[in-house]
Amino acid sequence: MNVTEAIKSRISTRAFLDKPVSEANIRALLEIARWAPSGGNLQPWRVHVVTGAARDRLVATVKQAIADNPLADESELEVYPPKLAEPWRTRRYEVGEAMYARLGIPREDKPARLKHLMRNYEFFGAPVGLFFSLDRRFDKGPTAKAVKL
Ligand SMILES: Cc1cc2nc3c(=O)[nH]c(=O)nc-3n(C[C@H](O)[C@H](O)[C@H](O)COP(=O)(O)O)c2cc1C
Repeated sequence: MNVTEAIKSRISTRAFLDKPVSEANIRALLEIARWAPSGGNLQPWRVHVVTGAARDRLVATVKQAIADNPLADESELEVYPPKLAEPWRTRRYEVGEAMYARLGIPREDKPARLKHLMRNYEFFGAPVGLFFSLDRRFDKGPTAKAVKL
């Protein structure tokens, strides 16, 4: 497979087998991923890997936190600019509608939509979760400024 094929065949997978992934495979994957470029070659990321009982505990804790407080805390960082403007607002809406249509979940079926949303917090069934984090001082970096424009 060449790079073009690899890029064009990648997709966001939202259902995984629970088949274990070896630590050697996880390490091999991260070893490749670390070749990603970074500004000034700072390589500022840290990766936290959760598997097995730690993964299950995390999923259970998050599930409980959402059950206790469904509206959740205010997010510390914006995922999208607040009051998403056009054309992005429509794009976001359409991709959501298309996804639920493919899943056969109608707009009115809020419990089914919520159930699917919750799969996000279960790693969509994957046995391994990877968290990439940056020092919070990077929040003030050029990417954050660009988003705030
Ligand atoms: C930064 C980022 C965050 C995303 N967050 C979610 C998410 O929370 N849940 C989800 O189902 N998909 C998420 N996606 C997947 C996008 O919806 C997906 O990449 C887009 O619809 C294009 O589909 P494709 O990746 O299959 O080509 C995210 C993608 C990116 C790059």
